[in-house]
Amino acid sequence: MTINFVLNGEPRSETSISPTRTVLEYLREDEGLTGTKEGCAEGDCGACSIVMVRNGSGKVEAVNSCLLTMGQLDGTRLATVEGLSDKGGELEAVQGAIVDEDGTQCGFCTPGFVMALHAFRHSGESVSDEAIHDALAGNLCRCTGYRSIVAAAHAAMSGNVEEAALTTFAEPSATELYEAQGQSFLSPQSLDALIAARVEHPGAPLLSGGTDLGLSFSKDRAAFPVTIFTQNVVELKRIEEDDAAIILGAAVTYSEALARIEELFPSFAVLIHRIGSRQIRNVGTFGGNIGNASPIGDTPPCLIALDTALTLHGPKGARDIQLEDFFLDYRKTDLAGDEVIASLTIPKLGPDQNFRSYKVSKRYDQDISAVVGAFRLTISDGLVTEARIAFGGMAATPKRAPRCEAALVGQPWSEESAARAGAAVADDFQPIDDHRATADYRVRVAANLFVRLHRDLEGADDIEVTSL
Ligand SMILES: Cc1cc2nc3c(=O)[nH]c(=O)nc-3n(C[C@H](O)[C@H](O)[C@H](O)COP(=O)(O)OP(=O)(O)OC[C@H]3O[C@@H](n4cnc5c(N)ncnc54)[C@H](O)[C@@H]3O)c2cc1C
Ligand code: FES
Ligand code: FES
Repeated sequence: MTINFVLNGEPRSETSISPTRTVLEYLREDEGLTGTKEGCAEGDCGACSIVMVRNGSGKVEAVNSCLLTMGQLDGTRLATVEGLSDKGGELEAVQGAIVDEDGTQCGFCTPGFVMALHAFRHSGESVSDEAIHDALAGNLCRCTGYRSIVAAAHAAMSGNVEEAALTTFAEPSATELYEAQGQSFLSPQSLDALIAARVEHPGAPLLSGGTDLGLSFSKDRAAFPVTIFTQNVVELKRIEEDDAAIILGAAVTYSEALARIEELFPSFAVLIHRIGSRQIRNVGTFGGNIGNASPIGDTPPCLIALDTALTLHGPKGARDIQLEDFFLDYRKTDLAGDEVIASLTIPKLGPDQNFRSYKVSKRYDQDISAVVGAFRLTISDGLVTEARIAFGGMAATPKRAPRCEAALVGQPWSEESAARAGAAVADDFQPIDDHRATADYRVRVAANLFVRLHRDLEGADDIEVTSL
């Protein structure tokens, strides 16, 4: 296999580069494209942003090149800040607007902002301050101040959108194995081939979007002998739906699923909008968020409250497991070494069911949660007939809250019953202190989420659901 991609309009076929070299290192050190900057090397600052188009999707998306590996590039088109304008030195619209609006001082962050806004300009979204802030939430500027950058964003969004360096198509490699520098990078295209790779290489890491695993390459300089990439497995990319449920393949990215989730579970969509930044959501996947088994992953508590089932696949075929039974202990799951998470089945809400999820973190955007609370309540004629409540950040795994649930079921849905359920948080969880929050804060804020839930479901007008 070669790694075939197009960089700033020029086809590339790499045969000897390490498949786990970061794209940022490749751009700066091998290609001399030093307009792409390294700030944090862990997905937080956006200085390394480039835009990528995956074959099939046609969508122009901003991604962090510091967390992207060379093996992930096969069949993609990339543009860096150097490749935006093909008009003989004339600035591209965003670049010009940044100059006109004084949107740069030291300039270190500027290429990253330009690339994030270039992707936004191609997204076809309607332009508003909120949408611009969302598009820029993954980019940090330390000296200009954001007002002039946002003004530049508004100015750049008018006028025709040119295609710049992203028109040339990249023919993906026909084979599924890339080998170079003593490393193998497997890119299976079917579930069977993925399982075969799992069986042949026990212990080899699965790489999906790489927004977790990518840190091993960018920070720890890991060079795994074998890496198994899941993004080209057709079965893992499906989004299907019937009357009862939506099924998401494990390798579906947040950005790919967001539009449907917004319609089915608006409150969950608000929370997903707060996972990292656009650059993270464009590649980060549901399977990765579950597979890393973090106690503070944002989607597992929501998915548990929604009664999600996982389908795992291994050499003996498929098996289903409820997500709440999947997490066994801190970073331990029920996944066997030769299995993969293939898909998630999320039941749709019934007529009397209400779902809300809340993320508590120090910053609104681009922050890891202290606590996530997720609530699915069935309320019939004012009475709570069923409650599924789950929290993240309160225990070694994302977990249901049985005593909180018991305090609600059979009770009228009222401020008092919500407060009683909140008081039961302390019986369900004994969280720990860490640098994000103390144990005491976690218990108190989780209890307070019941007050918020009650006000929210009662339609209190001082609660704006879209900004929770
Ligand atoms: C800057 C930054 C901000 C972030 N913000 C948030 C946040 O706000 N909330 C949050 O929850 N997370 C956050 N994350 C973490 C991360 O983005 C998410 O966990 C994401 O969903 C991981 O998905 P991925 O596809 O990138 O996983 P990868 O990094 O590719 O993989 C993660 C783990 O899952 C395993 N895995 C992947 N696919 C499968 C599969 N099909 N079967 C079994 N195992 C599998 C991998 O082997 C690996 O162990 C952030 C990360 C960064 C770098
Ligand atoms: S260098 Fe900071 S996000 Fe990549
Ligand atoms: S212009 Fe200096 S960091 Fe943004």
